[in-house]
Amino acid sequence: PDTSYDYDVLFIGSGPGGYVAAIRAAQLGLKTACAESRETLGGTCLNVGCIPSKALLHGSELFEEAHGHMALWGVKTPKVELDLGVMMAEKTKAVGDLTGGIEFLFKKNKVDWKKGHATFTGPNTVEIAGETVTAKDIVIATGSSVTPLPGVEVDNEKLRIVDSTGALNLSEVPEHLVVIGGGVIGLELGSVWRRLGAKVTVVEYLDQLLPGMDADVRKEAGKIFKKQGMVLRMKTKVTGATVKGKKVTLTVEPAAGGDTETIEASHVLVAIGRRPNTAKLGLESIALETNDRGQVEVDHDFRTKVDGVWAIGDVAPGPMLAHKAEDEGIAVAENIAGQTGIVNHAIIPGVVYTMPEFAGVGLTEAEAKDAGHTIKSGKFPMMANSRAKTNRDTDGFVKVIADAETDRVLGVHIVASLAGTMIAQAAQAMEFGATSEDIAYTCHAHPTHSEALKEAAMAVQGKPIHI
Ligand code: FAD
Ligand code: NAI
Repeated sequence: PDTSYDYDVLFIGSGPGGYVAAIRAAQLGLKTACAESRETLGGTCLNVGCIPSKALLHGSELFEEAHGHMALWGVKTPKVELDLGVMMAEKTKAVGDLTGGIEFLFKKNKVDWKKGHATFTGPNTVEIAGETVTAKDIVIATGSSVTPLPGVEVDNEKLRIVDSTGALNLSEVPEHLVVIGGGVIGLELGSVWRRLGAKVTVVEYLDQLLPGMDADVRKEAGKIFKKQGMVLRMKTKVTGATVKGKKVTLTVEPAAGGDTETIEASHVLVAIGRRPNTAKLGLESIALETNDRGQVEVDHDFRTKVDGVWAIGDVAPGPMLAHKAEDEGIAVAENIAGQTGIVNHAIIPGVVYTMPEFAGVGLTEAEAKDAGHTIKSGKFPMMANSRAKTNRDTDGFVKVIADAETDRVLGVHIVASLAGTMIAQAAQAMEFGATSEDIAYTCHAHPTHSEALKEAAMAVQGKPIHI
């Protein structure tokens, strides 16, 4: 070790990028510290993202099931009541257990938590809560925060116009929640409050929900959320909001321009995307510039242009997902330790945890064609899957896209109650360079939802059994 520095490596930010990287760096024998300005470790994901949202998705799903679906099976729940306080307490407990778990892992692995906001003051040097800390390598893992919408000011204290953090914390079920942005956060948190009894309207700028996903999946999402009772206002933009007591009045107009109208809401969720956290990081003192999307650019090894400074997770280019940040964290730690850490950015699954779930990995059909592939694809409806049929959760399909010449799988897109679990198999098959025939001839347990993936792969070959 180079003793002219306090640490071999310092991570700025303890989200899934920073905390995973810090643990791996310590495991590899590096003297490691991690700066975190929040009260608890775990970043956006554990504190105000993945974990609390999934807790409320689970709780609200139980509530909705008890309201009707369970009766299909003769499970009678004549009086279903919601105790929102208890549901919120369960969410808080899940967050506390997991963030506390990271603190335990830091101690176990001898990672020093430097509490406070870190700012670069020079190469290899940051200031944290008045203390100067030096490290041979410094990794920026500062994550992202909500993109503001001009004219619609978020106030997570008053809880009328909120971002995702406020929407995870409402003290009452909204009468009418208007969600601005039909992306991942809008649909997940919109689903939570719809299930708990709110009227939910989604205002989306584009003509389909879930940008970035396969066109068939996006079309299906529109149908499914509408069927579930969400009001979808597509090709519409919000131009302003005024709050009066418990009412919010939104002004909206067609995305292409036209007549303005108003929508009255009790609550508004702003979910139009997230942007990298680089403010007050002192990047100017190390002459590190961000790109036009505010991201810190990195090479294949996660090095920035500045020697000894690296970047991973939401602050670096690529999908803003926890597992992408985690994998980059492991890779960057290995690279700093002199090993070879690699992330295959072509195969990062994305999942929307609604009911059904929406998941994809690899190329969409449009991307595959744009990349010059001649493709063949196979689709299998969950309606024809015996387990989904038995469970009465038949919404959705599996779509497998393969190269017409080589049969290599280029992308898999799934809408199904268990899509988030099923997509892991597709990701692994693709990592191993699988053809659709490989998947079609792999024995899948019966009766499982996963058989739909096998049948979609068989459909690529033109010969599924059950349709
Ligand atoms: P973050 O998790 O954002 O962590 C960065 C940390 O750095 C923060 O704690 C911040 O306080 C700290 N920090 C920033 N600057 C400084 C500084 N200068 N000094 C000290 N500390 C600093 N992704 C999924 O894959 N699955 C999901 O289900 C999912 N659900 C989500 C739900 C919601 C509501 C939201 C908002 C996000 C969700 N995400 C999900 C996205 C996921 O949370 C992020 O992709 C992930 O947290 C990024 O990890 P990160 O380590 O890059 O940054
Ligand atoms: P998003 O990018 O998923 O969706 C934003 C939506 O808002 C898009 O559909 C966009 O067209 C629309 N939009 C943009 N400006 C608009 C405007 N002015 N008016 C109306 N609509 C507008 O972003 P979101 O939902 O805020 O989530 C941020 C990030 O958090 C995502 O990129 C995702 O990576 C991550 N996340 C991941 C989750 C998961 O993996 N399950 C869950 C929640 C968040």
